[in-house]
Amino acid sequence: MSARRGYLSQVSPDPEPKPAAIVLRSEREIALLREAGRVVARVLDELGRLAEAGRTTRELDELARRLIREAGGVPTFKGYMGYPASMCVSINDEVVHGIPGDRRLQPGDVVSCDVGATLEGYVGDGARTFLLPPASPTATRLLKVTQAALEAGIAAAVPGARVGDISYAVQTVVEAAGFSVVRKYCGHGVGTTMHEEPAVPNFGPAGHGPRLRAGMVLAIEPMVNAGGPDVVVGQDGWVVRTRDGSPSAHCEHTVAIGAEGPLILTLP
Ligand code: MF3
Ligand code: CO
Repeated sequence: MSARRGYLSQVSPDPEPKPAAIVLRSEREIALLREAGRVVARVLDELGRLAEAGRTTRELDELARRLIREAGGVPTFKGYMGYPASMCVSINDEVVHGIPGDRRLQPGDVVSCDVGATLEGYVGDGARTFLLPPASPTATRLLKVTQAALEAGIAAAVPGARVGDISYAVQTVVEAAGFSVVRKYCGHGVGTTMHEEPAVPNFGPAGHGPRLRAGMVLAIEPMVNAGGPDVVVGQDGWVVRTRDGSPSAHCEHTVAIGAEGPLILTLP
């Protein structure tokens, strides 16, 4: 979908039919997106509780799958482009798209959890990074900066601004801290499918890109490396790692552009 733009959305191309243009969602649709987002947030809350040294990443996935199902939803990621699990768990130098399995969490791990839930046809998409004690000073600062970058991106998501204002806000926070944004993957519109227009890069100049309008819904998701920006895709064709082995964090919210400003939809 995004080859023509020269950079990839998180997973590209998108297998599902979807609108080619940016869709403005009605208040009713935004309420439905908020319900899906609420499920995502509750799952992330519970994952944060379960994510302790000794747990396997499969246990996290089973929890996510069960909670999404119990809420009446479907795990959006499962089967997407053949993705085999209900969530992504990306540890330390893994950036995104880690497939859950037998790996056990270790003390000091940087654990990024990415969850999608589809409820009544509407998608919520969110990610949080958890630090297992004892967190290193770098990991602690990496997470703070990634959270601050997400907050700055959200604050820029106001009607009348442009997508590039979000990108610029994220990049500025990250690079001021001496870290790097991943450029190969970006945020995206979200609605009745997980990846819709527009792409939301985590870098680039302010004042460029599509105009933000009330009713647009975006997944804003900085992926931040403690070292350089380059990434490599692993043997399984999914897991994305930092090229230099540095740790990486990922924080994501689904956000609606409201008439008065941004509305975070992935809250419990
Ligand atoms: N939240 C992600 C995204 O924005 C991860 C989806 S990966 C999947 O694209 F393939 F597992 F779905
Ligand atoms: Co996303």
